[in-house]
Amino acid sequence: MRKKLVVGNWKMNMTRGQASAAIESLLLLVDPNTEVEVAICPTYLTIETVSHLLRRSHFLYGAQNVFWMPSGAFTGSISATMLADAGCSFCIVGHSETRGRFGKLEVPESTLGYFSETDETINLKIKSLLYQSIRPILCVGETLAEREAGNTDSVIYDQVKGALAGIEPAEYYSGVVAYEPVWAIGTGKTCDSAEANRVCGVVRKAVAEILDADAAESVQILYGGSVKSGNAAELFSQSDIDGGLVGGASLDAEEFSKIVRSA
Ligand code: 13P
Repeated sequence: MRKKLVVGNWKMNMTRGQASAAIESLLLLVDPNTEVEVAICPTYLTIETVSHLLRRSHFLYGAQNVFWMPSGAFTGSISATMLADAGCSFCIVGHSETRGRFGKLEVPESTLGYFSETDETINLKIKSLLYQSIRPILCVGETLAEREAGNTDSVIYDQVKGALAGIEPAEYYSGVVAYEPVWAIGTGKTCDSAEANRVCGVVRKAVAEILDADAAESVQILYGGSVKSGNAAELFSQSDIDGGLVGGASLDAEEFSKIVRSA
């Protein structure tokens, strides 16, 4: 039986002081006996602050990105070895913001390449995380243009296939995939729960084909994209949705704790 998982992706938000205040509120608001797995992915610079405050709680934490080499001359990069050393349980990879597939374009088009992860670099990142026993949260999702062209399912299948190539099925039994339609991220447009469930089913089928049936049965598949306390319960009650990857709403402790309660 898969556990529900709710992950807060803080993105590029929260100074150390703000992070401390948010975690202290969360610890008061979330039932310490909840069966739901709860994790926060803060910026690299606030991981230490967050980990210190969470040390005696059931909350987990992780990072938002990783570089796949273990160490060396890679200025500005952080390796999976370092994330493991910092106690991270999870790491997000392949987010549409790091793939350079922004739903709402907030950077000049000429700088998009700076963010551009590919299926190949995502695959290398996942392998480096698994080697350190860090659970990858692989993000997949179609842009509005891809959806309108009727290509949603093939885009999702190809992203899962590219990311999981060459991985032993058992290595991914505690892995995570998050379906985040690019057009729903930070836009307030949530994917309809039945459609979100259908695409999460496409993800599960792809995992069964690319890895095996046991991996498909155990992998937690999250929905992400404008999850709020008002829509979380309906999304999380769907058969193929095992929880949520929450952006904006995870910055507000009260709102995030309500989302956890919905799971
Ligand atoms: P929002 O919840 O702000 O739409 O962001 C979703 C997301 O990108 C989580 O990774």
